[in-house]
Amino acid sequence: MRQVEVGVIGTGWCGGIRAETLARQALVKALHIAEIRPDRLDEVAKATGAATATEDWHAISRHGSIAAVYISATPEDTHYPMARECLLAGKHVFLEKPIAMELAQADELLAIAKRNHLKFTIGYSQRFNAKYAYVRKSIREGAIGRPVSALVSRHLTRSLGKKISGRTKLSPAAMECTHDLDFLLWCFEPAKPVRVYSQINYGAMREASGGDVPDNQWITVTLDNGASFVVGGGWSLPPGYPNACTTWIEMIGSDGSVFLDDSHRDVVLNTMRQGMQLPMSSMPGEPVEHAYAGPMAAETLHFLDAVANDKPVLVTPEHARMVMEVYMAADLSAERNEIVTLPLPAAKPRAAAGR
Ligand SMILES: NC(=O)c1ccc[n+]([C@@H]2O[C@H](COP(=O)([O-])OP(=O)(O)OC[C@H]3O[C@@H](n4cnc5c(N)ncnc54)[C@H](O)[C@@H]3O)[C@@H](O)[C@H]2O)c1
Repeated sequence: MRQVEVGVIGTGWCGGIRAETLARQALVKALHIAEIRPDRLDEVAKATGAATATEDWHAISRHGSIAAVYISATPEDTHYPMARECLLAGKHVFLEKPIAMELAQADELLAIAKRNHLKFTIGYSQRFNAKYAYVRKSIREGAIGRPVSALVSRHLTRSLGKKISGRTKLSPAAMECTHDLDFLLWCFEPAKPVRVYSQINYGAMREASGGDVPDNQWITVTLDNGASFVVGGGWSLPPGYPNACTTWIEMIGSDGSVFLDDSHRDVVLNTMRQGMQLPMSSMPGEPVEHAYAGPMAAETLHFLDAVANDKPVLVTPEHARMVMEVYMAADLSAERNEIVTLPLPAAKPRAAAGR
């Protein structure tokens, strides 16, 4: 068994889950963490027994023994400079979505990873949800025939919408529908997207934020084999149901269909003190004593296994780049109020910010 030293940059919500998952793994020789909030750094260092804990993320990229780095920092414009520096330093990189802010930045990251023979993947964690994997399996095994069309409707509660839109100007397409674009393009492989049409809807979030924050966004994608799908995502639901996130998926094939209910109505906690709550309803999931409810732990370990045992990653950076192109086309379509044809032109990357 080959053990590796790993680093996690940004140990907030997702990075905390990644660090705690890695800390319990026999394949991990040592865990190193970086976080700019000293209290959170201290908390995660204690919970994980991290070998080193620093407020300077460059210490991770410069650490000679670290083989793989998980980048889970926010805001989202930190992703490209952090991934770039880690890849240039010869580290395998797991990067939370979004891959970058511009297509040319994504292209540069892909090129560095390829040139240096490094594993590079993006956190499309829903692929590690067994229900989603079942939809793809039913296509791959021919149970529903050839996929013809699909729908994904995903909605988050307003508190999460405020957290996300408070730190980035990225759209619901880039921040939420991105998971579903990734999933459906994976299901419809090898078909490629050729046309995108999208509309953005304003309502509660614009009023609450006083800014230009939409409630949700709907996207229609046409593929080169004539199939098409619709993805809608948003973050404006009131507190209460579904607590964190609700998703409904319809996959229609030539010989059958799969309907998937990921609406988190299956576990209801009702207490005198707090009323009705719906635990385990977030997209990353959460630890439940000895078990983990959700996809993020398995995803974290998949990348560790890929690095330690030289196996391929499930989400290739090329696929993530295609997803990025589709959500950027969706934003463009909504802005121009017209259909956008792919591919989009890619400009040269602007210099990496020195964060
Ligand atoms: N796959 C999923 O289901 C999923 C769910 C939520 C978020 N995400 C993605 O994961 C990323 C993290 O989201 P989150 O909700 O955990 O965010 P978060 O804000 O809870 O955590 C980010 C952490 O990064 C830290 N940080 C910021 N700058 C840093 C720096 N220079 N060095 C070190 N640490 C730094 C912050 O202090 C914070 O603790 C986001 O980009 C988001 O798109 C993915």
